[in-house]
This record gives sequence, structure tokens and C-alpha cells, in this order.
Amino acid sequence: MPSDRYILKWGILATGGIAETFTRDLLVNPEYRGVNNVVHTVVAAASSSSAERAKQFLKKVGAAETAKAYGSYKELVVDKDVDIVYIATPHSHHYQNAMLCLEAGKNVLCEKAFTVNAAQTKLLVAKAKEKNLFLMEAVWTRYFPLSVYVRETITSGRLGKVHRTFADLSMAMDPEKTLQDSHRMVNPDLAGGALLDLGIYALTWVFQTLYDTQPADARKAPTVLSTLKKYHTGADVQTTMLLTFPRSDEAGGDAHGIATTGMRTAADPDGKGTAGPAIRVQGEKGEIQVFHPAFRPTKTKVILTDGTVEEKTFDFPGPPKETGWQNGFGDMNPPGVAHGMYWEADECAYALREGRKEGKYESLEESIVIMETMDEVRKQGGLKYPEKIETTDYPVDL
Ligand SMILES: NC(=O)c1ccc[n+]([C@@H]2O[C@H](COP(=O)([O-])OP(=O)(O)OC[C@H]3O[C@@H](n4cnc5c(N)ncnc54)[C@H](OP(=O)(O)O)[C@@H]3O)[C@@H](O)[C@H]2O)c1
Repeated sequence: MPSDRYILKWGILATGGIAETFTRDLLVNPEYRGVNNVVHTVVAAASSSSAERAKQFLKKVGAAETAKAYGSYKELVVDKDVDIVYIATPHSHHYQNAMLCLEAGKNVLCEKAFTVNAAQTKLLVAKAKEKNLFLMEAVWTRYFPLSVYVRETITSGRLGKVHRTFADLSMAMDPEKTLQDSHRMVNPDLAGGALLDLGIYALTWVFQTLYDTQPADARKAPTVLSTLKKYHTGADVQTTMLLTFPRSDEAGGDAHGIATTGMRTAADPDGKGTAGPAIRVQGEKGEIQVFHPAFRPTKTKVILTDGTVEEKTFDFPGPPKETGWQNGFGDMNPPGVAHGMYWEADECAYALREGRKEGKYESLEESIVIMETMDEVRKQGGLKYPEKIETTDYPVDL
């Protein structure tokens, strides 16, 4: 192992489904994905319920025996060995948990949706600036080689001026049968609903193709028209958004984003892509398509007006399949295939090594604009969460 590798020491806050998937990916030797200059170690994990649960988590993910297990988040954030905390609680808790970390002087990678509302995100950003700390929303998809390729296809001009993006992340979950009303996907006390959990990915594709691809000084927040349908718990079960991104005439004039999400219909009903792409980015010379799932796509297709059709698939390298190593959220990926959460972790390491305070492919300013967009969608749909999780007060016991 080269001695000039930058070693990033992680603390994991929460021990649920995505915490496990993230941490297992984090511990994959970076050389398998061609990364030789950074390495990740897990030095501690904390559970809100018990130290024993944190201990079992560390064992399950294969962390070093020396990793410490805490029975409260407060103990984790004062651990001097921890460089950065990964927050993997339900979104209702992100604001309180992230503020706890920042107040304690820790850098933060916080799961999506960043917070419940934009006001909370703005206060986190202000706190990170005040304390000179790194803060990033864990929109892992932005850091995939596939996403880099899609954005470069747009900025290279290959599609001509891009005017419209359709993006869908819908999953036919049959929530009445598969989810209890207390589940975080549908429970308003945990900021449940399609928009904040799944819709954020449809918005990610609209923003990373129509907003992030513009020069920084030309990016303007979109206007929003939306409609949402509620589940019996009050959370949204299906949401449709029409976004207009103001652009100069030279840049092609206004661009339109159509972002849809829901838990009753599927973007890919047969799981084989028969329904076609989940995302279409349309320019004057053609389009680039991205196939379901919007959060972890592996396939793209460029179709140009000159007749070019170009398909590409992208790997998520893990340890050799002979080792039997497996990882994945929900449905397991095949042996040797990683989930792909390590690229965002690498970005955290690069940023900290270089002294940057935010992620390269989604600025904190953009995270705020996306939270404001979701605030507006909820306002138009009459969806408000309980005050205890919408509040900007800190600390609040949830
Ligand atoms: N990037 C992705 O692909 C992806 C995928 C799924 C989820 N997520 C995001 O990650 C976050 C967590 O999702 P998840 O599916 O991992 O959830 P989960 O399995 O329910 O785990 C959440 C964990 O948070 C902790 N927690 C603290 N207070 C809690 C409370 N009042 N209710 C429930 N859990 C509480 C618990 O861990 P302790 O008991 O150890 O404290 C729990 O295990 C969400 O914000 C979600 O949007 C991201």
C-alpha cells in the first residue's frame, strides 16, 4: 500500500439498512475501483438504542476489532479519532444529528434528503461555514462515473443545446401490504413520503443535467408547478413536478424539467428495462437516456439525429467474486459487485485532503435550491410535517 495515501477515519451514526450498505462499500479496497491515493477506515459507530447494537453492526460490516461501539450519538461526536461522521438516520432526524456533529467540530456526510426543509439546510450550511467544516449531502449518484459521463456528454455540446429532461423514480411498493404505517417511507413523524425519499433522485437528474451543467454564475433556481397525492397517513404517495429553469437566449432559453415519483407505479415494471429509460435528457441534436433505477443506474444510451445509437454500461467493482463478497440495499447485488457508495466517500476524502468544504458535483448552494424546490412542492400540495421535525430549533429531542 503506497505510504502517501490519505487515510480518512469515519464514524458511522446509526446502524440501519443504508448505514450497513454504505459501510460495507466503504471498506472495499479502493484499488478495485482504480483509486490509489485515498483509503477509508471505520473507527467508530453509534446506535441510539445501545452500544451492543453498534458492536453487532461493526462486526457485521467487517470493521477492525479496534473500532469503538457507542450507545449514543453524543459519545460518537466527541471521539477524537473520528474525522468525519456519516449520518444515516431517517430524514426527520438529519438536522438535529448534523447540528450535533458540526457543533462538536466534526465534518459531515449526511444522507438524503438533507433535511426536512430548506431552512434547516441553510442553518447547517451556516454552521459548517462558521466552524470551517466540510459538509455534504450524500447524493451518491452524483459521484458515479456514469453521472460524470452524462454531464460531460451535455457540456461537450454533443446533444446540442439541452432543452428538457424527463426523470422518474417510481416503485410499485404496494405500501398498504408491504409497509406498516410506522415505517419511515410513509410515517409523517419520520418525514415519510415519496418526494423526500425517492423524488429527490428524479430531481437529482433534472438538476444535474439542467442546472449543474450551466456555468456557476448562470444557474438560476427553477419555478415550480406540482401536484401530489396523499397516502392515508398524510405523506405523499405520488408526486409530479414541472420545473422551469430560467436561461439566457444564448444558452437556449428556458429549460424544462419533468420530475415524477411514486410508490404505486413502477418505472421498470418487469425489471428488465422493457418500459424504456427512466431518464431522457433531450437536446437539439439528440438525447441521452439513463435506465432505471435513477438512484443506481448502470446503463445509458445516446441517440442522435444523425443516426448514431450508442449504449454504455458501467461497472461497480468490488472484491473478486470468488471471495463471495456481496453488498446491496434491498435486493442484493451479485457477488463481487459493489453498491457504489464508495465514490461519494472518495469525494469526501479528496475534499478534506485538499481543504475543500463541500462536494465537487453538488454544491451546498445547489442542495439548498433543491430543498427549496421540495418545500414549494409540499406547499403547493398542502404537505406539512409535524412541527417538531420542521423546526429549526436545536437541540430538540426526537
Ligand atoms: N443513499 C441511498 O441509497 C439510501 C437508501 C436508503 C435510505 N437512504 C436514506 O438513509 C436514511 C436512513 O434510511 P434507512 O433505510 O437506512 O433507514 P432504517 O433502516 O430505518 O435505519 C435508520 C436508523 O436510524 C436510527 N434511528 C434513530 N432514531 C430513529 C427513529 N426515531 N426511527 C427510526 N430509526 C431511527 C436507527 O439506528 P440506531 O438504532 O442505531 O440509532 C435506525 O436503524 C434516510 O434518510 C434515507 O432517505 C439512502
